[in-house]
Amino acid sequence: MALIVLTSVSGSPGVTTTSVGLALTWRRATLLVDADPAAHQAVLAGYLAGQVATAKGLQRVAEAHRDRRPLLEVVSDETVPLTAADHECAVQDDSPGGPIADRGPGRRLLPGFARPANAGLFGPVWPELADALMRLEGAGIDVIVDVGRMERQGLPQPLVDRADLVLLVTHSNLRSLAPARTYAGLLREQSRLAGGELNLGVVVVGDQLPYGRREISRLLELPVVSVLPVDAAAAAVFSDGAPRPRRFDRSPLVRGLHHAVDDLTGQIRRRRSRLGLEDEVGPPMPSTISAQDRSAVPLMTNAWLRSTVDGGNVDGGNHG
Ligand SMILES: Nc1ncnc2c1ncn2[C@@H]1O[C@H](COP(=O)(O)OP(=O)(O)OP(=O)(O)O)[C@@H](O)[C@H]1O
Ligand SMILES: [Mg+2]
Repeated sequence: MALIVLTSVSGSPGVTTTSVGLALTWRRATLLVDADPAAHQAVLAGYLAGQVATAKGLQRVAEAHRDRRPLLEVVSDETVPLTAADHECAVQDDSPGGPIADRGPGRRLLPGFARPANAGLFGPVWPELADALMRLEGAGIDVIVDVGRMERQGLPQPLVDRADLVLLVTHSNLRSLAPARTYAGLLREQSRLAGGELNLGVVVVGDQLPYGRREISRLLELPVVSVLPVDAAAAAVFSDGAPRPRRFDRSPLVRGLHHAVDDLTGQIRRRRSRLGLEDEVGPPMPSTISAQDRSAVPLMTNAWLRSTVDGGNVDGGNHG
C-alpha cells in the first residue's frame, strides 16, 4: 500500500529508531530500507546488534543497476530478515496492539551504504530503485525508507516523487524546530516539484516539550501526522538492539508506535482517496496477505516475495 520516507534535521535524533519501530509495528509485510547517506549501518549495527554479517545492501543494488539488471528482483535478493530470534518477544496475546516482531507478515531490511562515497554516486540509481520499491506494493509489501538527516541538497527527488508520505521527524524543542523550519521549506519545494498534492508530514518525538502539535504545524507549515513519546528504554531496543525492558510491549513508545501506524495509514488512505487512487489501497490492513495479491507472483521470482504473497512468515530468526 505504501512507500514512506523518513528524514530528520540536525538537532533531532530519532529517525532510525522511529523507522525501525514503525517497520516492526507495521501491519503488513514491510521492507525497511537503510538509505542514510552517512553510511552508519545503523540497523545492522544497531537493532540487529551486529548479528547479521552480510555484504548485501545498496552498494550491490548500485552494481546491479550498472549491469542493467532489473532492480525489482535485485532489491529482494539484497534483503536480510529484520527480526531475529534474539529480538523476538514472547507471544502475549493480551498485549495492547499485539506483540511486535514475533509473528505476522515478513519484515526485511535492505542494508545501507558501506561507505559515504557510495551514497554520493547513487544518484542515477534512485529513479529505478524508487520504481522498484513502488512495485513491491503489488506483492503487498510496504516500504519504509530511512534517508537519514537532510542536507542542503534535499532528499533524492525520485523518492519524494513516488512516496505516499515523506515524514520529517523532529523533537518539540526550539533547538530542533529552528533547523526543521528551514528544511521544511526545502521539503515543500521538493514535494511541489513532484506535482500533485503535498505528501509531507511531521512526526513529533516528545510532544509538548514544550511545543504542541498545533504550534509545530503552524511553524513548519506542515501537518503533524503523529506524535511519539520520549521513552529511552524502549528506544534503545530499536536503536541499539538493547535487551527488551520489562513490559516492553506495553511501553509508551511501543504503544505510541501502534498509534502512529494508524495515523500514517489514515493519512495515506485519505490522500490516495483524494487523488482517486482508492483502488490501489486494497483491503483494510490485513495481517496476512490476501489472495488477490497473488496476481503479482509471476512478476516476482524471489523466494521472499513468493512466501510473502503466500502469507508465509519468513521472520523466523533465520539470519543466513
Ligand atoms: N522516542 C525516543 N525516546 C527516547 N530516546 C529516543 C527516542 N528515539 C530515539 N531515541 C534515542 O536517540 C538516540 C539517537 O537515535 P537514532 O539513532 O534513531 O537517531 P538518528 O536521527 O537516526 O541519528 P543519526 O543522524 O546519527 O542517524 C538513540 O540513543 C535512541 O535510543
Ligand atoms: Mg539514523
